[in-house]
Amino acid sequence: MAQPRAGGYALTALLPPLPQIPPKIAAIGDYEAFAQDRIEPGAWAYINGGVGDEWTLRENTAAFARLPLRTRVLRPMHGASTTLNLLGADLATPILIAPTAFHRLVHRDGELATVLAAGATGTAMVVSTQASIALEDIAAAAAGPLWFQLYIQPDRDFTERLVRRAEAAGYGALVLTVDAPVNGMRNAEARAGFALPHGIRAVNLEGMHHPAPGPDGALLFGTPLIESVPTWQDIAWLRRLTRLPILLKGIVDPTDARRALGCGIDGLIVSNHGGRTLDGVPAAIDLLPAIAATVAKRVPLLMDGGIRRGADVLRALALGANAVLIGRPVLHALATAGALGVAHALRVLRAELELAMALTGCRTLSEIDEGCLFGRRHV
Ligand code: FNR
Ligand code: LAC
Repeated sequence: MAQPRAGGYALTALLPPLPQIPPKIAAIGDYEAFAQDRIEPGAWAYINGGVGDEWTLRENTAAFARLPLRTRVLRPMHGASTTLNLLGADLATPILIAPTAFHRLVHRDGELATVLAAGATGTAMVVSTQASIALEDIAAAAAGPLWFQLYIQPDRDFTERLVRRAEAAGYGALVLTVDAPVNGMRNAEARAGFALPHGIRAVNLEGMHHPAPGPDGALLFGTPLIESVPTWQDIAWLRRLTRLPILLKGIVDPTDARRALGCGIDGLIVSNHGGRTLDGVPAAIDLLPAIAATVAKRVPLLMDGGIRRGADVLRALALGANAVLIGRPVLHALATAGALGVAHALRVLRAELELAMALTGCRTLSEIDEGCLFGRRHV
């Protein structure tokens, strides 16, 4: 039966999570329609929306369709595998769960359900600074690799305490997101009047000193928020602060990538934040080759944005990524069927990746190269 949920806006009849996965859900994209029936319209706009005209958001998925694949036949496939080791973590596939805020917006158990699915499938989960469950509680429920996504806060002492908490809880790496020092204008979310429902908060930021609003008439410039945005000096500070591996998430410029490596950064994530920060940035997959050329395999290179099929994972690896992350589809699967949904979505992606590898003749992840892409380097 449809259950109304308490929220800050008009009550809408929402369907409950499914106890099992129906045959109609055959691909991870199929979760979207099921999720929409289970998420408040405002939260739906927040999750699915992008910034501005949503050009970047559309490009993230459209660009994969412009990368046709090449079948290669009769190659030996014995001992084929999708496994890898990434910064000390053994992973079943090169697919990680991207950090996304407030999983309790879409499912009662929130991040605890997601981390259960991650553990059951050998998937690494990146927990958001803006998680709706305490980072220690998520770690206590984990059965596999966990990384912590950090936003450097205007209050640097609070930021240091967050890092110490992540270290103490056993997180294996820090993912420092650098592309969202300020929030983009997500119009769909604004039009839907989205506000966090009562009881769902960024619990890990509780007790933090928030910057005061700016002087009368100030919009962004002139406010304490913009005065305190992180800079490269903070990267050096963070590098001194912790021995955990640090990845920078949101790098799209080769010069920035080179500078990050010079700061002793352990990994990079090519990302346009799922089209949520600056509209007009090219698709993440189109940004990848130039960063891969700069990084030249010196550190692990990841990417996210628009991955919806196992073949997209193969495309990203062909263009130089070691692994990818997925954002919205995890939230759609979580809303639809909780931990079961997320585990199923990850399994479907792995099945698709295995097929794509078999049909392009790649036995291991390291055999995936540009030769898998039609019209690229002919090997
Ligand atoms: C995000 N993303 C994000 N990134 C981050 O570093 N910290 C965060 O708290 C969040 N929160 C967040 C919330 C929601 C609702 C979405 C959709 C995304 C960005 C995320 O990590 C990732 O970069 C994109 O979601 C990847 O694109 P896809 O897979 O959603 O197309
Ligand atoms: C977002 C912020 C939380 O993308 O990163 O919504």
